[in-house]
Amino acid sequence: MNVRGKDYRAVWMDGRDVVVIDQRLLPHRFALLRLRDHRETAEAIRTMIIRGAGTIGATAGYGLAQACIEAARLRDRRSFRAYVRRARTTLIRTRPTAADLKHAVDRVLAASESVTGVDGAVAAGLAMAARIADEYVERSRSIAEIGLPLIRRRARILTHCNAGWLALVDWGSATAPIYLAHRRGRDPFVWVDETRPRNQGAGLTSWELLQEGVRHAVIADNAGGHFMRRGDVDLCIVGADRIAANGDVANKIGTYQKAVLAHENGIPFYVAAPSSTVDPLCPRGDAIPIEERDEDEVHWVGGVTSQGRRARVRVTPPGAAAANPAFDVTPARYVTGIITERGIFKPREIRQCLSAM
Ligand code: MRU
Repeated sequence: MNVRGKDYRAVWMDGRDVVVIDQRLLPHRFALLRLRDHRETAEAIRTMIIRGAGTIGATAGYGLAQACIEAARLRDRRSFRAYVRRARTTLIRTRPTAADLKHAVDRVLAASESVTGVDGAVAAGLAMAARIADEYVERSRSIAEIGLPLIRRRARILTHCNAGWLALVDWGSATAPIYLAHRRGRDPFVWVDETRPRNQGAGLTSWELLQEGVRHAVIADNAGGHFMRRGDVDLCIVGADRIAANGDVANKIGTYQKAVLAHENGIPFYVAAPSSTVDPLCPRGDAIPIEERDEDEVHWVGGVTSQGRRARVRVTPPGAAAANPAFDVTPARYVTGIITERGIFKPREIRQCLSAM
C-alpha cells in the first residue's frame, strides 16, 4: 500500500514491538502505534485498533512471537512453554469469528515448540510470524491476478466492509483484483457500503480507494438493492472472516443481505479470501461462532466535526437497547465463486483449495 508516496503494510514488527496503522483514526488521521508486548497486541485486536481477517492473523502471529521474546527471560523450557501457551489463549479469545487468527497463532506456536532450547524457540517463533505476514502479501497479490479476469473494462463492483490493504496486510482480498484492474487501465468503479455500525466501508475502504485513485461512491447500507435493481452493479466482491467446509461464508454483518439481493437480481456474488480463511474443521456456517460486540458501537457514531475535531455522537435515545452481531453467515448457495490464491472455487468445492498447488 502506498500512503502519501510511502510504502506501508498494515502491521509489521520492529525489534520487540508490533507496529500497526491505527485504524481507529482513519480516514481523518494517519498514525502508527507501537504495541510493546503481547497483551497490548491482544488488546489492539480486541478493540479493533487493527482489524480485518488477514491483518488480525498477521498481528496475532506477531503477538505470539512477542510472547516468545517475553518468555525467554524465564530460561527453563517448561515455564517458557506455559507462558507462551497462556499468551495463545489471550490472543485467540480476542476475536472469535476470524479463522485466520487461530491459524496464525497456532503456526507460530508449533514453530516455537518444534525446536529445543529457548533461544531457538524464540527465533523459530519470530521467523514463522514474519513468514505468515509475507504469505498474506503474496496470497493477496495472487488473488489480484486470479480475480482480474472477472473485472471487465469500467465494471461497477459493490463491496461491503473493508477487505482492502488494511484488512490483509497489503493489497486486500476483495479489493486486490480491483486495484490490479485499475493499474491495468480498466477503470473500475466501486459502490462502497458504509458498513454500520463501525463504518469500515465509509472510513477505510473509501480512504484506500482514494489513495489508489479508484473511482467510487460510498452508499448507505440500505442502498445496495436499489442500485442492483437499476442495473448499476455488474458484480459484488466481498471478503471473508471464516469459510466453512461446505462453502458457507462468515463476513461482516450485512453481507448476507447483499448476497440475497445479488441472487434476486442475477448479479454474480464473489467472495475473495486466502486459503487460511477456510476452516476445514467447521462443517457449515451454523457452526461458526458469531462475535457479539458492545451495544455502544450501535448507539454511538464517531467522526470529525466541521472544525476537524474528533467527536462521538449518540444516535439512539438514552435507555434504548441495541444488539450488535459483528458478522453474519451467507449460505453457499448465494456465492458464485470463492477467489483464493489457488484459483476460483465453487463454494461447495472450497475444501479442494486446501490441497490445490
Ligand atoms: O470486524 P472487522 O472489521 O475485523 O471485519 C472485517 C470484515 O468483515 C472483512 O470483510 C473481512 O475481514 C474480510 S477482509 C480480510
